[in-house]
Amino acid sequence: MKIAILGSGGREHAIAISILKSNKIRKLYCIPGNAGTSELAENISIDINNFEKIYNFLNEKKIDLVVVGPEEPLVNGIVDYLEKFNIQVFGPNKKASQLEGSKIFTKNLCQEYNIPTAAFGVFQNMKDTKKYLENSKYPIVIKADNLAAGKGVYICKNKKEALQSVKEIFEGKFGKAKNVLVEEFLDGEEMSYFIITDGKTIKNFGTAQDHKRVGEGDLGNNTGGMGAYSPSRLINKTLEEKILNKIIEPTLAGLNKLKTKYRGFLYAGLMIIKNEPYLIEYNVRMGDPECQTILPLLKTDIIDLFISCNNQNLNDLNLTWQNKKSVCVVLCSNGYPEKYEKNVKIQNFDKLKLDRKNFLFHAGTSKSENEIIATGGRVLNFVSLSESFSKAREEIHKNLSRLRWEKGFYRKDIASKVINKE
Ligand code: AMP
Ligand code: GLY
Repeated sequence: MKIAILGSGGREHAIAISILKSNKIRKLYCIPGNAGTSELAENISIDINNFEKIYNFLNEKKIDLVVVGPEEPLVNGIVDYLEKFNIQVFGPNKKASQLEGSKIFTKNLCQEYNIPTAAFGVFQNMKDTKKYLENSKYPIVIKADNLAAGKGVYICKNKKEALQSVKEIFEGKFGKAKNVLVEEFLDGEEMSYFIITDGKTIKNFGTAQDHKRVGEGDLGNNTGGMGAYSPSRLINKTLEEKILNKIIEPTLAGLNKLKTKYRGFLYAGLMIIKNEPYLIEYNVRMGDPECQTILPLLKTDIIDLFISCNNQNLNDLNLTWQNKKSVCVVLCSNGYPEKYEKNVKIQNFDKLKLDRKNFLFHAGTSKSENEIIATGGRVLNFVSLSESFSKAREEIHKNLSRLRWEKGFYRKDIASKVINKE
């Protein structure tokens, strides 16, 4: 098969490596890809939000399947667009992608189907929001409704902070904002729960815990994700049943009522309080870095998985996994998530010990005159599989010490919560 992956992060590099393990792959393109994908596939420099150019390329190369990594093209309807030309795409359509594209759409669905989530209010202007905030309990959570690349969420300790956040959102800090969402603060521990579905069958696609804050001890600014471990320490059979019965199934049934079907990966960001799940948000794709953490554990041929989803026979496919612990540590450019230096050389890739248990996935990297340079905030992902989380992290730290890049940093405490209990 000829396959194209859309995206340029660690998630897409991990998907590329999984695809290349299949004997069904004949040619792989990454649009636009990164230095890592350029070593195993052909990178094609097209803006993933330019659907027409993407279609022209896919048509010219007679691509059999497109796998969409990030949310933006999904929310903007790339699946609907390409399907009109009879191109097979793995990912949810525009209507279903509102689960990520509009927080208010999801909140309304939760309300209609009694899906456990934080109590909330939606406001269109400063005056009404202010009135609501007068009588609220703190901390409180303020969110912009639009896609804001992981930003656009404020946890506010008091009214003053809350008003400042609302002002920033209405002033357009995250793009044009018609609505502000005010949410009750949920005090628990977060967990990412993944499924894959063809619209009929739901299959678990792993659990993970992400580390969103930039600093050790979960302090500092929010980022796209500094590392993760899988499986989550919180998952157990009773909790999983609750997640499926109270959250996932009613959501998919709700979409069916809206005359659409969800097809693809679905990522539920959950807050777990006393073994009860509450939905914080949905993402209509795999997480990054959770994807890099989970995919190396997958034994099933990923192309079979994509095809069975598109053909609506996921029920017939047996998903199998390695029974190992997985840790991912993200190496970032100094300064991230604020300003950082670009085009900095990284060396000693040949000194790394990479094998069937130790992986390197590129994110913000490019090649320049045969050298690898850091071009993004999140640059490299080191993943290790082991019998224990501590051993996995140890292997990652050994590899990190072999690399030469003075301008990079990483969190040394990824997975500490679970390691301390091992
Ligand atoms: P979101 O973009 O909605 O996932 O929010 C980003 C982060 O903000 C989440 O991963 C949580 O850590 C935090 N968060 C969002 N909503 C809430 C809430 N209602 N209560 C507590 N924390 C929240
Ligand atoms: N790791 C968080 C995300 O992918 O949204």
